[in-house]
Amino acid sequence: MSEYILQLENISKFFGSVIALNGVTLRLRHGEVHCLLGDNGAGKSTLIKTLAGVHRPDKGEYLVDGERVRFRSPREALDLGIATVYQDLALVPMMSVARNFFMGREPQKKLFGLLPVMDHALAAHTAVEKLGEMGIRVRDADQMIGTMSGGEKQCLAIARAIHFGARVLILDEPTAALGVKQSVNVLKLIGKARERGISVIFITHNVNHAYPIGDSFTLLNRGKSLGTYAKAAIGKDEVLDMMAGGAEMQKLMGELEGVTI
Ligand SMILES: Nc1ncnc2c1ncn2[C@@H]1O[C@H](COP(=O)(O)OP(=O)(O)OP(=O)(O)O)[C@@H](O)[C@H]1O
Ligand SMILES: [Mg+2]
Repeated sequence: MSEYILQLENISKFFGSVIALNGVTLRLRHGEVHCLLGDNGAGKSTLIKTLAGVHRPDKGEYLVDGERVRFRSPREALDLGIATVYQDLALVPMMSVARNFFMGREPQKKLFGLLPVMDHALAAHTAVEKLGEMGIRVRDADQMIGTMSGGEKQCLAIARAIHFGARVLILDEPTAALGVKQSVNVLKLIGKARERGISVIFITHNVNHAYPIGDSFTLLNRGKSLGTYAKAAIGKDEVLDMMAGGAEMQKLMGELEGVTI
């Protein structure tokens, strides 16, 4: 078995004259939470879209389980168990929790023993039960997604990916728009995914979110990697310094001090 579940080796990606990624190497170990940090425009989303099969790299290699892949669509990545929750969630606001949880994979029953229709009762019951197992309490499976908070939506999207057998979970800034409490819920869920043996790539600007949950850290700066560090090899302040080059960012982050999970 390959030491890494995913590997990007020396990847470059160009958008016209923009060099979004410039010779980036990222290796994801089995069952680790790997944090991808970097400022706006560093290339984080481009990197995860490459992993997710949305973009094809212009240079370099992408390996899954040690085998070279060249995805033509996100579907092909998903089929290998690589699930991505994007910054702007693909959840339909006017859809119920149960419906959304099963989107495209609805349990069916036969009407009059013949006609296949969605089994709403089973879907509602299963969605509530499975979300409950992951520590997410749903008041009403018929609740519309649009009425949920940002944190609840993130948790639902993550729980759905876990339930449907993701081996790799890629989260693009899941805590960016959330308050402290909701961020903690998302961080806890990332911990639960790891307990289940899922490998996670967690993208964030926020070192105070990344550091408690992360096993390793890769820092991106203007399309280049500043390296990958195991938690034992780097302190939170060093991560901060590398990320932002200094004091100003640290001052801002200081306001969020005390987030524990
Ligand atoms: N589809 C695209 N076409 C042209 N340029 C793009 C495209 N996608 C990204 N870029 C450019 O590539 C660079 C990296 O963008 P990317 O979205 O990957 O950054 P990011 O680290 O995710 O930033 P943020 O923290 O703001 O989400 C930016 O300069 C961006 O403008
Ligand atoms: Mg981004």
